[in-house]
Amino acid sequence: MAAIVLDGITKQFPDGTTAVRELDLSIADGELMVLVGPSGCGKTTALRMVAGLEEVTGGTILIDGQPVNDTEPRDRDIAMVFQSYALYPHLSVYDNMAFSLKYRGGVSKAELRQRVADAARILELEPYLARKPRQLSGGQRQRVAIARALAAQPDILILDESVAALDVSIQAQVLNLLADIRDQTHVSYILISHDLAVVRQLTDEAIVLHRGKVVERGPTAQVLDDPQHPYTQRLRASVPRPGWKPRRRGQPGTGEENGVP
Ligand SMILES: Nc1ncnc2c1ncn2[C@@H]1O[C@H](COP(=O)(O)OP(=O)(O)OP(=O)(O)O)[C@@H](O)[C@H]1O
Ligand SMILES: [Mg+2]
Repeated sequence: MAAIVLDGITKQFPDGTTAVRELDLSIADGELMVLVGPSGCGKTTALRMVAGLEEVTGGTILIDGQPVNDTEPRDRDIAMVFQSYALYPHLSVYDNMAFSLKYRGGVSKAELRQRVADAARILELEPYLARKPRQLSGGQRQRVAIARALAAQPDILILDESVAALDVSIQAQVLNLLADIRDQTHVSYILISHDLAVVRQLTDEAIVLHRGKVVERGPTAQVLDDPQHPYTQRLRASVPRPGWKPRRRGQPGTGEENGVP
Protein backbone atom coordinates (compact mmCIF):
# COMPACT_ATOMS: atom_id res chain seq x y z
CA MET A 1 0.00 0.00 0.00
CA ALA A 2 1.25 3.44 -0.82
CA ALA A 3 0.97 6.35 1.58
CA ILE A 4 1.44 9.60 -0.27
CA VAL A 5 2.47 12.92 1.18
CA LEU A 6 2.56 16.20 -0.73
CA ASP A 7 4.74 18.72 0.98
CA GLY A 8 4.31 22.29 -0.23
CA ILE A 9 3.65 21.32 -3.84
CA THR A 10 3.52 24.13 -6.35
CA LYS A 11 2.82 24.05 -10.05
CA GLN A 12 3.67 26.94 -12.27
CA PHE A 13 3.13 26.37 -15.98
CA PRO A 14 5.67 27.80 -18.45
CA ASP A 15 3.25 30.59 -19.39
CA GLY A 16 3.37 31.85 -15.79
CA THR A 17 0.02 30.43 -14.62
CA THR A 18 0.32 29.19 -11.05
CA ALA A 19 -2.21 26.38 -10.92
CA VAL A 20 -1.33 25.01 -7.46
CA ARG A 21 0.27 26.90 -4.57
CA GLU A 22 2.11 25.20 -1.72
CA LEU A 23 -0.33 22.36 -1.36
CA ASP A 24 0.09 20.02 1.61
CA LEU A 25 -1.82 16.79 1.46
CA SER A 26 -1.45 13.31 2.84
CA ILE A 27 -3.32 10.29 1.72
CA ALA A 28 -3.36 7.32 4.07
CA ASP A 29 -4.37 3.75 3.35
CA GLY A 30 -8.06 3.36 2.89
CA GLU A 31 -8.78 7.05 2.95
CA LEU A 32 -11.62 8.54 1.00
CA MET A 33 -10.84 12.12 0.25
CA VAL A 34 -12.78 14.66 -1.72
CA LEU A 35 -11.36 17.68 -3.45
CA VAL A 36 -13.90 20.40 -4.18
CA GLY A 37 -13.45 23.84 -5.65
CA PRO A 38 -14.48 26.04 -8.55
CA SER A 39 -13.50 25.42 -12.14
CA GLY A 40 -9.86 26.29 -12.77
CA CYS A 41 -8.79 26.23 -9.09
CA GLY A 42 -6.14 23.55 -9.70
CA LYS A 43 -7.85 20.27 -8.79
CA THR A 44 -6.89 18.31 -11.87
CA THR A 45 -3.37 19.72 -11.94
CA ALA A 46 -2.81 18.78 -8.27
CA LEU A 47 -3.90 15.20 -8.83
CA ARG A 48 -1.99 14.85 -12.07
CA MET A 49 1.11 15.61 -10.00
CA VAL A 50 0.07 12.94 -7.47
CA ALA A 51 -0.25 10.47 -10.33
CA GLY A 52 3.15 11.42 -11.74
CA LEU A 53 1.71 12.90 -14.91
CA GLU A 54 2.75 16.49 -14.37
CA GLU A 55 6.10 17.95 -13.40
CA VAL A 56 6.27 19.59 -9.99
CA THR A 57 7.82 23.07 -9.86
CA GLY A 58 8.13 23.37 -6.07
CA GLY A 59 7.90 21.16 -2.99
CA THR A 60 8.27 17.41 -2.59
CA ILE A 61 6.16 14.31 -3.12
CA LEU A 62 6.88 11.37 -0.84
CA ILE A 63 5.62 7.85 -1.39
CA ASP A 64 6.00 5.59 1.62
CA GLY A 65 8.36 8.17 3.09
CA GLN A 66 10.65 8.31 0.05
CA PRO A 67 10.87 11.44 -2.11
CA VAL A 68 10.00 10.55 -5.68
CA ASN A 69 10.95 12.03 -8.97
CA ASP A 70 8.00 14.08 -10.32
CA THR A 71 7.19 12.04 -13.31
CA GLU A 72 8.42 8.62 -12.27
CA PRO A 73 5.85 6.11 -13.47
CA ARG A 74 3.58 5.12 -10.62
CA ASP A 75 0.92 3.35 -12.60
CA ARG A 76 1.26 0.21 -10.56
CA ASP A 77 0.00 2.01 -7.49
CA ILE A 78 -2.09 4.87 -8.71
CA ALA A 79 -4.81 4.85 -11.33
CA MET A 80 -6.48 8.01 -12.52
CA VAL A 81 -9.79 8.32 -14.33
CA PHE A 82 -9.60 11.50 -16.32
CA GLN A 83 -12.19 14.15 -16.75
CA SER A 84 -11.85 13.63 -20.48
CA TYR A 85 -11.67 9.83 -20.29
CA ALA A 86 -9.10 8.80 -22.84
CA LEU A 87 -10.18 5.52 -24.38
CA TYR A 88 -8.37 3.95 -27.32
CA PRO A 89 -10.77 4.56 -30.20
CA HIS A 90 -9.65 1.57 -32.27
CA LEU A 91 -9.99 -0.96 -29.43
CA SER A 92 -13.17 -2.63 -28.22
CA VAL A 93 -14.52 -1.94 -24.74
CA TYR A 94 -13.10 -5.27 -23.59
CA ASP A 95 -9.65 -4.52 -25.00
CA ASN A 96 -9.68 -1.01 -23.55
CA MET A 97 -10.29 -2.51 -20.13
CA ALA A 98 -7.67 -5.24 -20.58
CA PHE A 99 -5.00 -3.11 -22.25
CA SER A 100 -2.92 -1.82 -19.37
CA LEU A 101 -3.23 -5.06 -17.41
CA LYS A 102 -1.97 -6.99 -20.39
CA TYR A 103 1.01 -4.74 -20.95
CA ARG A 104 1.87 -4.37 -17.31
CA GLY A 105 2.28 -8.14 -17.07
CA GLY A 106 2.19 -10.26 -13.96
CA VAL A 107 -1.47 -11.09 -14.38
CA SER A 108 -2.45 -14.48 -15.80
CA LYS A 109 -4.84 -14.67 -18.74
CA ALA A 110 -7.51 -16.22 -16.56
CA GLU A 111 -7.17 -13.54 -13.92
CA LEU A 112 -7.24 -10.78 -16.53
CA ARG A 113 -10.47 -12.18 -17.97
CA GLN A 114 -11.94 -12.43 -14.49
CA ARG A 115 -11.02 -8.88 -13.52
CA VAL A 116 -12.41 -7.43 -16.72
CA ALA A 117 -15.60 -9.48 -16.34
CA ASP A 118 -16.05 -8.35 -12.73
CA ALA A 119 -15.55 -4.70 -13.55
CA ALA A 120 -17.89 -4.96 -16.55
CA ARG A 121 -20.60 -6.56 -14.44
CA ILE A 122 -20.35 -3.94 -11.73
CA LEU A 123 -20.57 -1.06 -14.16
CA GLU A 124 -23.25 -2.76 -16.29
CA LEU A 125 -21.06 -2.84 -19.36
CA GLU A 126 -21.52 -6.49 -20.31
CA PRO A 127 -23.68 -5.74 -23.38
CA TYR A 128 -21.05 -3.41 -24.81
CA LEU A 129 -17.81 -5.34 -24.49
CA ALA A 130 -17.43 -5.83 -28.24
CA ARG A 131 -18.22 -2.24 -29.18
CA LYS A 132 -15.85 0.56 -30.00
CA PRO A 133 -15.92 3.72 -27.86
CA ARG A 134 -17.59 5.75 -30.63
CA GLN A 135 -20.56 3.36 -30.47
CA LEU A 136 -21.24 4.27 -26.83
CA SER A 137 -22.95 7.15 -25.09
CA GLY A 138 -20.91 9.60 -23.02
CA GLY A 139 -22.00 8.00 -19.73
CA GLN A 140 -21.16 4.54 -21.03
CA ARG A 141 -17.69 5.70 -22.04
CA GLN A 142 -17.22 7.18 -18.59
CA ARG A 143 -18.16 3.83 -17.07
CA VAL A 144 -15.61 2.06 -19.25
CA ALA A 145 -12.95 4.44 -17.95
CA ILE A 146 -13.91 3.70 -14.32
CA ALA A 147 -14.12 -0.05 -14.98
CA ARG A 148 -10.67 0.01 -16.58
CA ALA A 149 -9.19 1.70 -13.52
CA LEU A 150 -10.93 -0.71 -11.13
CA ALA A 151 -9.67 -3.72 -13.06
CA ALA A 152 -6.11 -2.55 -12.39
CA GLN A 153 -6.76 -2.87 -8.62
CA PRO A 154 -4.64 0.15 -7.71
CA ASP A 155 -3.67 1.31 -4.20
CA ILE A 156 -4.90 4.81 -4.92
CA LEU A 157 -7.69 5.56 -7.33
CA ILE A 158 -8.17 9.13 -8.47
CA LEU A 159 -11.55 9.94 -10.01
CA ASP A 160 -11.69 13.33 -11.67
CA GLU A 161 -15.38 14.28 -11.84
CA SER A 162 -16.11 10.77 -13.02
CA VAL A 163 -18.82 9.80 -10.58
CA ALA A 164 -20.88 12.97 -10.85
CA ALA A 165 -21.30 12.38 -14.58
CA LEU A 166 -23.08 9.08 -14.08
CA ASP A 167 -26.82 8.74 -13.77
CA VAL A 168 -27.98 8.51 -10.18
CA SER A 169 -28.76 4.80 -9.99
CA ILE A 170 -25.36 3.82 -11.33
CA GLN A 171 -23.72 6.58 -9.30
CA ALA A 172 -25.09 5.08 -6.08
CA GLN A 173 -23.93 1.64 -7.14
CA VAL A 174 -20.45 2.86 -7.97
CA LEU A 175 -20.17 4.72 -4.65
CA ASN A 176 -21.26 1.64 -2.74
CA LEU A 177 -18.84 -0.43 -4.71
CA LEU A 178 -15.97 1.95 -3.97
CA ALA A 179 -16.79 1.75 -0.27
CA ASP A 180 -16.91 -2.08 -0.38
CA ILE A 181 -13.61 -2.31 -2.20
CA ARG A 182 -12.05 0.05 0.28
CA ASP A 183 -13.22 -2.06 3.20
CA GLN A 184 -11.76 -5.16 1.60
CA THR A 185 -8.51 -3.85 0.19
CA HIS A 186 -7.66 -0.53 1.87
CA VAL A 187 -7.46 1.19 -1.50
CA SER A 188 -7.53 4.98 -1.05
CA TYR A 189 -9.67 7.23 -3.17
CA ILE A 190 -9.42 10.82 -4.13
CA LEU A 191 -12.49 12.19 -5.82
CA ILE A 192 -12.68 15.52 -7.52
CA SER A 193 -16.22 16.76 -7.46
CA HIS A 194 -18.41 19.78 -7.82
CA ASP A 195 -21.36 17.78 -6.65
CA LEU A 196 -22.18 18.14 -2.96
CA ALA A 197 -24.65 15.25 -3.10
CA VAL A 198 -21.80 12.95 -4.08
CA VAL A 199 -19.43 14.44 -1.53
CA ARG A 200 -22.02 14.07 1.22
CA GLN A 201 -22.10 10.30 1.02
CA LEU A 202 -18.40 10.08 1.63
CA THR A 203 -17.58 10.51 5.24
CA ASP A 204 -13.83 11.13 5.31
CA GLU A 205 -11.90 14.25 4.53
CA ALA A 206 -12.87 17.12 2.29
CA ILE A 207 -10.40 19.62 0.95
CA VAL A 208 -11.57 22.85 -0.61
CA LEU A 209 -9.24 24.42 -3.15
CA HIS A 210 -9.57 27.99 -4.31
CA ARG A 211 -7.15 29.61 -6.74
CA GLY A 212 -4.57 26.89 -6.23
CA LYS A 213 -4.60 27.07 -2.41
CA VAL A 214 -6.31 24.98 0.23
CA VAL A 215 -8.85 27.28 1.88
CA GLU A 216 -10.66 24.74 4.00
CA ARG A 217 -10.25 21.13 5.06
CA GLY A 218 -11.70 18.75 7.59
CA PRO A 219 -14.20 15.92 7.99
CA THR A 220 -16.59 16.18 5.04
CA ALA A 221 -19.74 16.62 7.12
CA GLN A 222 -18.16 19.40 9.15
CA VAL A 223 -16.90 21.27 6.11
CA LEU A 224 -20.32 21.06 4.50
CA ASP A 225 -22.41 21.80 7.58
CA ASP A 226 -20.31 24.59 8.93
CA PRO A 227 -18.43 26.10 6.02
CA GLN A 228 -15.94 28.79 6.97
CA HIS A 229 -14.65 30.04 3.66
CA PRO A 230 -16.92 32.25 1.52
CA TYR A 231 -16.49 29.92 -1.47
CA THR A 232 -17.66 26.88 0.52
CA GLN A 233 -20.56 28.91 1.89
CA ARG A 234 -21.62 29.87 -1.62
CA LEU A 235 -21.22 26.31 -2.85
CA ARG A 236 -23.52 25.12 -0.12
CA ALA A 237 -26.05 27.89 -0.65
CA SER A 238 -26.22 27.08 -4.36
CA VAL A 239 -27.52 23.54 -3.87
CA PRO A 240 -31.21 23.49 -4.82
CA ARG A 241 -33.47 22.56 -1.90
CA PRO A 242 -36.76 20.67 -2.07
CA GLY A 243 -39.38 22.92 -3.64
CA TRP A 244 -36.75 24.95 -5.46
CA LYS A 245 -37.95 26.23 -8.84
CA PRO A 246 -35.87 27.77 -11.55
CA ARG A 247 -36.45 31.50 -11.58
CA ARG A 248 -37.38 32.83 -14.97
CA ARG A 249 -35.35 35.70 -16.23
CA GLY A 250 -37.06 38.86 -17.40
CA GLN A 251 -40.20 38.63 -15.27
CA PRO A 252 -41.96 41.97 -15.40
CA GLY A 253 -41.49 44.20 -12.39
CA THR A 254 -38.37 42.49 -11.11
CA GLY A 255 -35.93 44.85 -12.74
CA GLU A 256 -34.61 41.95 -14.82
CA GLU A 257 -36.48 42.80 -17.99
CA ASN A 258 -33.34 43.82 -19.76
CA GLY A 259 -31.31 40.97 -18.42
CA VAL A 260 -29.88 43.17 -15.67
CA PRO A 261 -29.68 41.23 -12.44
N1 LIG B 1 -0.85 23.26 -19.60
C1 LIG B 1 -1.26 24.39 -19.01
N2 LIG B 1 -0.65 25.57 -19.23
C2 LIG B 1 -1.04 26.71 -18.62
N3 LIG B 1 -2.06 26.79 -17.74
C3 LIG B 1 -2.72 25.62 -17.47
C4 LIG B 1 -2.37 24.37 -18.09
N4 LIG B 1 -3.21 23.42 -17.63
C5 LIG B 1 -4.05 24.04 -16.78
N5 LIG B 1 -3.76 25.34 -16.68
C6 LIG B 1 -4.42 26.36 -15.83
O1 LIG B 1 -4.23 25.98 -14.47
C7 LIG B 1 -5.40 26.30 -13.71
C8 LIG B 1 -5.89 25.05 -13.01
O2 LIG B 1 -6.38 24.13 -13.98
P1 LIG B 1 -7.01 22.72 -13.56
O3 LIG B 1 -7.27 21.96 -14.79
O4 LIG B 1 -6.13 22.11 -12.54
O5 LIG B 1 -8.38 23.21 -12.88
P2 LIG B 1 -9.58 22.36 -12.25
O6 LIG B 1 -9.71 22.81 -10.83
O7 LIG B 1 -9.39 20.92 -12.50
O8 LIG B 1 -10.85 22.94 -13.07
P3 LIG B 1 -12.19 22.18 -13.63
O9 LIG B 1 -13.11 22.05 -12.46
O10 LIG B 1 -12.72 23.14 -14.64
O11 LIG B 1 -11.78 20.88 -14.22
C9 LIG B 1 -6.40 26.91 -14.69
O12 LIG B 1 -6.32 28.30 -14.58
C10 LIG B 1 -5.92 26.43 -16.04
O13 LIG B 1 -6.25 27.35 -17.06
MG1 LIG C 1 -10.38 19.53 -13.71
